[in-house]
Amino acid sequence: MDQFKGQPRLPKFAVPKRYDIRLKPDLISHRFAGSVAVNLDIVAATTFIVLNAAELSVTADSVSFTIGDSSTVFKPSRIELIEIDEILVLEFPQEIPVGQGLLTIEFEGILNDRMKGFYRSTYEYNGEKKTMAVTQFEPADARRCFPCWDEPACKATFKITLDVPSELVALSNMPVAEEITNGNLKTVSYEESPIMSTYLVAVVVGLFDYVEDHTLDGVKVRVYGQVGKANQGKFALDVAVKTLELYKEYFATPYSLPKLDMIAIPDFAAGAMENYGLVTYRETALLYDEQHSAAANKQRVATVVAHELAHQWFGNLVTMEWWTHLWLNEGFATWVSYLATDSLFPEWQIWSQFLHESTEGLRLDGLAESHPIEVDINHACEIDEIFDAISYRKGASVIRMLQSYLGAECFQRSLASYIKKYACSNAKTEDLWAALEEGSGEPVNKLMNSWTKQKGYPVVSVKVNEQKLEFDQSQFLSSGAQGEGQWIVPVTLCSGTYEVRKSFLLQTKSDAHDIKDFIGTANISGNYWIKLNVDQAGFYRVKYDEVLAAKLRYAVEKQLLSASDRFGVLDDAFALCMARRESLTSLINLMGSYREEVDYTVLSNLITITLKVERIAADAVPQLLDYFRQFFIGLLQHCAERLGWEPKPGESHLDAMLRGEILTALAVLGHDLTLEEGSKRFQAFLEDRNTPLLPPDTRKAAYVAVMQGASKSNSSSYESLLKVYRETDLSQEKTRILGSLSSSRDPGLILEALNFMLSSEVRSQDAVFGLAVNREGRDVAWAWLKENWEHLVKTYGSGFLITRFVSAVVSPFASFEKVKEVEEFFASHAMPSIARTLRQSLERVNINANWVESIRKEDSLSDAVRELAYRKY
Ligand code: BES
Ligand code: ZN
Repeated sequence: MDQFKGQPRLPKFAVPKRYDIRLKPDLISHRFAGSVAVNLDIVAATTFIVLNAAELSVTADSVSFTIGDSSTVFKPSRIELIEIDEILVLEFPQEIPVGQGLLTIEFEGILNDRMKGFYRSTYEYNGEKKTMAVTQFEPADARRCFPCWDEPACKATFKITLDVPSELVALSNMPVAEEITNGNLKTVSYEESPIMSTYLVAVVVGLFDYVEDHTLDGVKVRVYGQVGKANQGKFALDVAVKTLELYKEYFATPYSLPKLDMIAIPDFAAGAMENYGLVTYRETALLYDEQHSAAANKQRVATVVAHELAHQWFGNLVTMEWWTHLWLNEGFATWVSYLATDSLFPEWQIWSQFLHESTEGLRLDGLAESHPIEVDINHACEIDEIFDAISYRKGASVIRMLQSYLGAECFQRSLASYIKKYACSNAKTEDLWAALEEGSGEPVNKLMNSWTKQKGYPVVSVKVNEQKLEFDQSQFLSSGAQGEGQWIVPVTLCSGTYEVRKSFLLQTKSDAHDIKDFIGTANISGNYWIKLNVDQAGFYRVKYDEVLAAKLRYAVEKQLLSASDRFGVLDDAFALCMARRESLTSLINLMGSYREEVDYTVLSNLITITLKVERIAADAVPQLLDYFRQFFIGLLQHCAERLGWEPKPGESHLDAMLRGEILTALAVLGHDLTLEEGSKRFQAFLEDRNTPLLPPDTRKAAYVAVMQGASKSNSSSYESLLKVYRETDLSQEKTRILGSLSSSRDPGLILEALNFMLSSEVRSQDAVFGLAVNREGRDVAWAWLKENWEHLVKTYGSGFLITRFVSAVVSPFASFEKVKEVEEFFASHAMPSIARTLRQSLERVNINANWVESIRKEDSLSDAVRELAYRKY
């Protein structure tokens, strides 16, 4: 049997065609029993059948193989479940001939509490603690529920039957075909599914309520939630119905199943999971409460639903051939969710907000420890790590770049033909490129390979040299190092009033063009500005020479640029500053040009950058910190005054989101008025949870404000927040509080908050929200992480959540000593599943440390920040 060990993929002498699965979960003993009958095509005569299984008990007695429709039954002579490779090897005494056969296996397993495979989740019903049974199979955990060929390319049909307590709701991918009740138990069987991958199979058993609607062509759509919460599903239901109709048009293919259920699961590791016909969600990503959810929560629900429904086509109907192409699923669903959200809620300006995705992609991909979009996968345990900003955000961004290069209409047409061609089958990245190449006549494959097969991205430097514009590309690295990469860059450029737009492919390291060809005159005179990467549609950064940069600063100040371009100028400047290719002095001067900014996305990024600069300044030049704070408060105050603490009648969704972010930032920056106002309103809220003085959009700001002054010896605000946490049954409210609890400046209280995150009162999926500590909390959090490492590994070690602990705690440091210290600790606590994250986090600390050193050497900084701090707006 050794020949099957250590292989990344299953041998292919047996191909599954149809699974008949029966499961009987026991919600009291936390065990389940099951059986599976798989119709197989034996494509090569063999004495072995090898399939996936893990954490299941299977005995040789319970396995049999029937040839064709004859009654010849083979029993295995030996079986072995090899846990390390997660395979079940069946050895037969006789050779199984080529042809068809039926493999049956009985097995038992445990309903685990690790949020993967077949697991249990808890909830309250009438004040009583209850257990539900749920599945989460992606990427490779169907094998923990039933033995199967657990690879995305091994598609088959599924016929599922459940034996469950008769009072419970039992759901699976397909509608119920038959339900037979027998006393306390019922047997529910579901219609046979169309051909699909194992990672999309799903089952949920528990007590739920639902709301229901249907699409124009009769697809029945339901949203399930805990009993009493179904009304909170109405918003998602409405989004789902409209989105299904929209995708049907966009992909020119109808939704494949007769029904779509969406369900909120109290314990859930990811945000949501696109199981075919039964999409599972965290409560925060599905339920919306008119009274107590914030605008940001509403947007989250809409985009998550749009994302998961996109997978029903891109992922479920057409599936990646192997995990190397995961980005096709995730990058594409992310991109298309913006298309749907924009169509449903144009006033949200969601395409501007897309820049948040790109910038997060650029941030991760600016590390030497990044990875290419297409990445080799040699073991199931390597898959979890690639559900990251590269697959999702860089993936979505390069798709957007390509769409904008090819044109929306041609892009859609080619996609629709790709979906048709690969429906019910599998595809690789090249297959998508081929469809787009055929539809557009452009060399898509060649263009895109440079973006998906190598990590990183370029910074395009542009400078004026007499009557020419000179372009040069080199790999951008946040460390300031020079990378080796080279790309085919779709450069776009605009100038003046956006009337002049040009584009060309930068295919070599450098290139030059006559200015006259671009802007009609040979000189860049007066206030004539030039902006590259128009609308930030490309996945690259731009570095301008002094002349061009000064003109852009002016254009920002005079609001001559579009919001996306204002975003880009700032974001690139920040990245270049961190990479020590521009001074902090010039960055803060540029930030000063944003004082009249009104756009949500630009301001939101300005806030992010402000808080990062504040942190690094505190490390590098503590003697100037007060000036930095004063400057930043001045920068944001103008907008905060316009927005106030309460919603204006008929105000926009974006103002509602912005208010929360600005006030939270002002609280963090220690702005007196915000702190006072926040604490006044918090008191009113404690007296009446429905007070109009503290609507959901500003609650987090008030929570953070009261925590700023809280300490171990003066912990009444902390206690009050805990009380609110304990009393609410809305997950979004709980999350808001967890995200504020550790924001005090007192190490003793921060430690108490961190310990609370690991208590039984916090679901393990939510503990990471509490790691957003400030600078004063860094060392406490690190000591706490080391202290609790064993516990964390036990609770989170088998999933991707553990990586969040490492990056949240390690990345904020900014000294070389810390790099050493962290390395030393993990040298004796190594784990393959955190290896990449750890390297990335350490790289970030090194980048911060170098940045600190270079800031200290900046002579001009002190005068510049003083001047900005005292400037009156
Ligand atoms: N397919 C993923 C869920 C998933 C994530 C499974 C990680 C296994 C490991 C799902 O479609 C997804 O992408 N969910 C996102 C939310 C989405 C809106 C970005 C998530 O879980 O964060
Ligand atoms: Zn997804």
